[in-house]
Amino acid sequence: NKVVLAYSGGLDTSVIVPWLRENYGCEVVCFTADVGQGISELEGLEAKAKASGACQLVVKDLTEEFVKDYVYPCLRAGAVYERKYLLGTSMARPVIAKAMVDVAKEVGADAVAHGCTGKGNDQVRFELTFFSLNPDLQVVAPWREWDITGREDAIEYAKKHNVPVPVTKKSIYSRDRNLWHLSHEGDILEDPANEPNKDMYMMSVDPEDAPDKPEYLEIGIVSGIPVSINGKELSPASLLTELNDIGGRHGIGRIDMVENRLVGMKSRGVYETPGGTILAAACRELESLTLDREAIQFKDIMALKYAELVYAGRWFDPLRESMDAFMENITKTTTGSVTLKLYKGSVIVASRKSPFSLYREDISSFESGQIYDQADAAGFIKLYGLPMRVRAMLEKEQGKL
Ligand code: ARG
Ligand code: SIN
Repeated sequence: NKVVLAYSGGLDTSVIVPWLRENYGCEVVCFTADVGQGISELEGLEAKAKASGACQLVVKDLTEEFVKDYVYPCLRAGAVYERKYLLGTSMARPVIAKAMVDVAKEVGADAVAHGCTGKGNDQVRFELTFFSLNPDLQVVAPWREWDITGREDAIEYAKKHNVPVPVTKKSIYSRDRNLWHLSHEGDILEDPANEPNKDMYMMSVDPEDAPDKPEYLEIGIVSGIPVSINGKELSPASLLTELNDIGGRHGIGRIDMVENRLVGMKSRGVYETPGGTILAAACRELESLTLDREAIQFKDIMALKYAELVYAGRWFDPLRESMDAFMENITKTTTGSVTLKLYKGSVIVASRKSPFSLYREDISSFESGQIYDQADAAGFIKLYGLPMRVRAMLEKEQGKL
């Protein structure tokens, strides 16, 4: 008889409050997670929630947990969806939904609700997390049930129920922001042929407007996890906050793509991930020293599946958890530092160092060394190429060569 609603204070979630009370006859506890979406979104929220008819607003700061337990594992795994997407929204849904399950327990609620549409990925991510962490919770998704179809409808519904219409003017884009990224969808972006407007971006400057002078940055990494910038150790959330500033200034991390949603449709999205793009480059680079060929290849194969699971909302899936055990183990020695040069939208690797580096100058150098005997290569190549020689022998016998 009590429902916990994922609440942002925007028009949609404001309308959901009276709608839940009217259609389910329940008390509504609004829940807002701080995942680094920016303070302005959190101001005056309690009054707003109550004015909409909520009995209570619960706010939780999940920023450190989000970066430490969700973002960093994905980063360590090298998870990238469909070649480009760094999974910013996908990673945030499970941490929010998990907190909702906790809040439901705290306030004695038997149901949870969210404002995701029935056409997207987010509904799946929320609900799979609810299922995994408390199978008894009832899930309400108003967008899949009601007949409010557009903004005008929603405003009318709000007025009829004496709910103040939020003054924050609705952006033309559907946006989702957290510490890792900002996504833009909708409006002119819905035609993949349209280039995004310059004024759409919020976390980064246009590369051509970035400083003419490059900036060098040293990222310290311990076991596949970033720990410092220019030698200064920082907590996960503060490290990312700082890198977003630096990266944004240099126009780093803009991604424009057409992706395949879990529900089958294609959708066009533009993402800004300034800090994340820098971190992904740094972690990947350090692995070039610390992992051997087979390890890198297999890790990359796993990363593909890992990204797919995260995108699809299967965070609390034993498969994802087991893959993390692998990722943790394989990156145990991925410790060291990477220096990057940021310049007008690009991240250029300048240097990498690791106490566990598998690179040995005494072996690799063009100056001759002791360990590697060039004469050994002859036998190696003969055996390595044996299958190719056998095939060629056959083709020759058949007159094809
Ligand atoms: N397409 C991206 C994803 O599925 C971003 C979704 C953004 N969500 C939103 N509610 N605006 O991860
Ligand atoms: C939504 O439909 O609620 C946002 C987009 C998505 O979930 O993919």
